[in-house]
Amino acid sequence: MVSKLASSENRRFAEQGLSEADVRARLDDQRRGDMAWNNPRNLKAAYYAGDDVFRLARDTYAEYHGDNLLYGKALYPSLVQMSSDVVGMSLELLGADADACGTITSGGTESIILAVRAAKNWARAERSATSVPEILMSHTGHPAFNKAAEILGLKVVRVRSNSEFRADVEALRQHINENTIMIVGSAPTYPMGCVDPIADLAQIANDHGLWLHVDACVGGFFLPFAREFDDVPAFDFTVKGVRSISADLHKYGYTSRGASLLLLADKRLEQYQRFFFDGWPVGEFVTPTINGSRPGGAVASAWAVMNFLGRAGYRDRVKKITEARRALVSEIGLIEGLRVLGRPYAGIVGIGGADSTDMRAVGQGMIDKGWKFAPLVDPVGINILLNYTHGAIVRELADDLKQSVVSAKSGRISGTFEENTYGA
Ligand SMILES: Cc1ncc(COP(=O)(O)O)c(C=O)c1O
Repeated sequence: MVSKLASSENRRFAEQGLSEADVRARLDDQRRGDMAWNNPRNLKAAYYAGDDVFRLARDTYAEYHGDNLLYGKALYPSLVQMSSDVVGMSLELLGADADACGTITSGGTESIILAVRAAKNWARAERSATSVPEILMSHTGHPAFNKAAEILGLKVVRVRSNSEFRADVEALRQHINENTIMIVGSAPTYPMGCVDPIADLAQIANDHGLWLHVDACVGGFFLPFAREFDDVPAFDFTVKGVRSISADLHKYGYTSRGASLLLLADKRLEQYQRFFFDGWPVGEFVTPTINGSRPGGAVASAWAVMNFLGRAGYRDRVKKITEARRALVSEIGLIEGLRVLGRPYAGIVGIGGADSTDMRAVGQGMIDKGWKFAPLVDPVGINILLNYTHGAIVRELADDLKQSVVSAKSGRISGTFEENTYGA
């Protein structure tokens, strides 16, 4: 279903403002019907890491409310320093060498648009030009690549993943043609949480001179810690051939919404990301991002949370989430009529049906029991995203899944899933 843009019936912009108390009361009142974002029944991408982390992230964001990284050099050197620290810590975490660099962006989508733009400019400068450059990726990759391609005039070729929901390397290889400039792998994918075989994709990229981007928006601040106690496939800059990585600070990095990173393996590539214009009265306009103004709060919040948690804080949360995911996966294995889709990583679990289970009805059963999750449509199923508090609800979640399967099989429920779409 395509959503409509906001167009309120209320066209009254009052002449006189309200008192602060009245505004706050109105806000509280309006919010009454909203779910608390960190309610444990919200299994829809709520990256809660504890009240202490939340408070620090919120307060530092607020303290830097008016500061703008766009004017960082002239006015806010501390923001420039914090931005450089956040990028530096993240590059170290993701196995980059001394030549790497990066940028804080406003979110995963902006990081991806920037990566596609850099790849397009790089291909134009360093390879023979093609009329419509192509991006090759598995069909499980995030739609932000299609958004980027639409904006920038590229074409995305999506190839079905293998039966384990990982990129099908040979099938991808067969789709390479003279227009292909970029190949994308995810670590992990959003729908099923599977990690694409990045080392194999790097082989293809190296053989054909392609830009390899790793979408680690979900896994960037999870997988580096998980590999200390889980068999995480190589996915970062230690894989030679990876040119760029998107990693979201506002997901498992636990900072305030509005922060991600685009990291480049080599400073030489930065020229392809940067935008330059000087045909206006103010002179040179040079920005590394799609956005002009860049909220200082997002930078300060990221710096504060990363320094507060340290590696140990992230590791501790990653361990708890991994335990919860493993417990949920084994519970699902015991429920006749359900199956886990592929081998999930991070806090994601994709749940599909086995035999003839009507997963729409199961999904409806879970909605009726008050769970919020993203739906899967191909195959039909349920997408769950866990945070570190969810260990406590695995039992209840599994019981509700079991009951929903029983009710679905007996025909007591049916459903359309419409309430639970991915986005707006
Ligand atoms: C794998 C992946 N890539 C990219 C994105 C886009 O990130 P954002 O919603 O921050 O723009 C998401 C969002 O969930 C994601 O899961």
